[in-house]
Amino acid sequence: MKAYELFNEIIKGGKADTKTCDTLKAGDPNKELKKVAVTMFATVDTIKKAQKWGADMLIVHEPTYYDHFEEIDELPVVAMKRKLIEESGMTIYRYHDYMHHRDVDQIPEGEIYYLGLKGRTEKTPYSASYMFYCDEPITAYELATKMESELGIKRVRIAGARDKKSTKIALCFGTPGGVFELLSSEDVEIVLTGEACEWKLAEYARDADALGINKTLIVMGHIGSERDGMRLLAKRLSEKYTEFETRYIECTEVYTYTDE
Ligand SMILES: [Fe+2]
Ligand SMILES: [Fe+2]
Repeated sequence: MKAYELFNEIIKGGKADTKTCDTLKAGDPNKELKKVAVTMFATVDTIKKAQKWGADMLIVHEPTYYDHFEEIDELPVVAMKRKLIEESGMTIYRYHDYMHHRDVDQIPEGEIYYLGLKGRTEKTPYSASYMFYCDEPITAYELATKMESELGIKRVRIAGARDKKSTKIALCFGTPGGVFELLSSEDVEIVLTGEACEWKLAEYARDADALGINKTLIVMGHIGSERDGMRLLAKRLSEKYTEFETRYIECTEVYTYTDE
């Protein structure tokens, strides 16, 4: 199978935005596949790891060059990274819009799957934001602990209620729309998100909790909140295709901490 053929298979069933970012980012689309690497971000480290493994193709979720459409000036870091990618010989495709915009968005699907939560997911009016109704009531503290143990997130941050049992959870993984609207809705108890505007979202949750309302914002980090969708994609590709090998290449979180 060639790289473009696999990409066309993967995007089946999804919808793109009018102008999609899901395009060939580097390399030869006709490359024959023996090894396919999947990751969240094409960081310098993941490019090197995928190349070392001998990957022919790298599938990423996020931009490689710090802009949604990769329309960026040739800054020194961009030029150096572009050279690294060219030298790797890998074919890189981005799988983002088609992944989110389908009957079942594969990012929350992966997050819920690896968190091991049981419940029902429903669409909201906001792009890439969902409601999850958890079968078993759970506290924000319990959820955060699970994120650290099951998803390997180093520091999950909690604003607002920590120990109130909840079932109405908004899934705002990455940086989607409608986070404040969901957080301030009476029908939402906990919001899970990747990145958050602290003065608005976190402080709202803190005040709401202090005033006796069951409300929590949990910030997972952008990578922590989406990479398990890509992990699930790699798992499915390896189960579906035996003519090439598939591997998820770990994209570590962007921040480091003083106690590690
Ligand atoms: Fe994202
Ligand atoms: Fe995403």
